[in-house]
Amino acid sequence: NVDVSGLVDSEGGLLDRAIFTDEDLYKQELRRVFAPSWLFLAHTDQFRRPGDFFTTYMGEDPIIVTMDKSRRIRAYLNSCRHRGARVCRADFGATRNFTCTYHGWAYDLEGALVSVPNKDGYPESFDAKDWGLVEVPHVETYHGLIFGTWNPAPLSLRESLGDMAWYMDAMLDHDDEGTVVVGGVHKWVLEGNWKLSAEQFATDWYHVNMSHASALTVLSPSGKAPRDEIVHRTGRQYVDPRGHGAGFPVHPKNRFDARTVHEWMDYDALRERLGDARVEGPLTTGHATVFPNFSYLPVNGSIRIWHPKGPDAMEVWAWTIVDKSMPDEVREAQRLYNLRTFGPSGIFEQDDGENWSEVQAISRGFITNGVALNYQMGMGSEREDGRHPGTTSELYSDAAGRAFYGHWRDLMNTPAWHEEKR
Ligand code: FES
Repeated sequence: NVDVSGLVDSEGGLLDRAIFTDEDLYKQELRRVFAPSWLFLAHTDQFRRPGDFFTTYMGEDPIIVTMDKSRRIRAYLNSCRHRGARVCRADFGATRNFTCTYHGWAYDLEGALVSVPNKDGYPESFDAKDWGLVEVPHVETYHGLIFGTWNPAPLSLRESLGDMAWYMDAMLDHDDEGTVVVGGVHKWVLEGNWKLSAEQFATDWYHVNMSHASALTVLSPSGKAPRDEIVHRTGRQYVDPRGHGAGFPVHPKNRFDARTVHEWMDYDALRERLGDARVEGPLTTGHATVFPNFSYLPVNGSIRIWHPKGPDAMEVWAWTIVDKSMPDEVREAQRLYNLRTFGPSGIFEQDDGENWSEVQAISRGFITNGVALNYQMGMGSEREDGRHPGTTSELYSDAAGRAFYGHWRDLMNTPAWHEEKR
């Protein structure tokens, strides 16, 4: 294990590019950042009946998420206890058992090994009870979002979210009915380290007026708004000590770009439920990251996970969620708005992916890799602003990014529970 203190100067706002390219650091990240953290798994709406399942990853570990016979959401390592093949190769579906296609061991929804072909060939000491699927020990839900962790003694999910929950509620808690998923899960591959995208969603509003200038112009009501009309100038950035972050312009008039959705929303009711500060800030537009690799765009209803695939690559998995109370035509408007902007071919998504891949592509250069990156914007601006909970900074600031990497550094330097055994 490497002491990464010299690679992340979160107080001075300097980063060493090795954290995006080094293979050994990446493996350490899987052990010390991903294994102990709460990681997003799926949305509760994907599990309506016992046996509904969805396969995903925690770090690079394959995972089955399913609803058991008692309707409890559980998660298992998707790897057969016999020779290690995946016991579920489908992306999602419904089943009674997970049967391994290699030799036929089968596991029930509670993870128990319930069928072993030619069982007589095993010694008497073989007990199927010892060979169930490995279960993710903690699975918890926050307003429809399911998270899991391998950490045997974690803070609760709610505790680990801290004040970040207040900002998340601007997307998740519009009424008592909660949210549902519309459409499928979009998945695409990007060259780029997972942290480049996670940190951008936590902290980087700076890029918006440059990288997305043409997209913002096209989306303006006239389709050709002058630059002065499209740039954001005021707003805040939430800075969380556990590495979460949320940036949002403040629009006193409830700005919302998807017209049909905008007209359907009952802003008076939302102001009563969530308060003016949330309706005028995090609800109107913005982006955020729950450390380490879950991000969302409240106004688009986009939730996504940046699955790490080595230091140089990630898979983006993205869902569109909407209020359950939305009528079909409004849901469809939200789905299309999200696809056009932040779907795999969305006009903003293209700008972002290009930036991350560009940064990654050149970072392996020997000299390039040794040149530090600057995260100093907004240094010293962190404070309690009296309107939003926790610590906030300016809209244009790297403060949440410094906190993100500070937490990452601390986890990287802390032995995880499993290291005593290995
Ligand atoms: Fe699964 Fe053999 S690897 S039954």
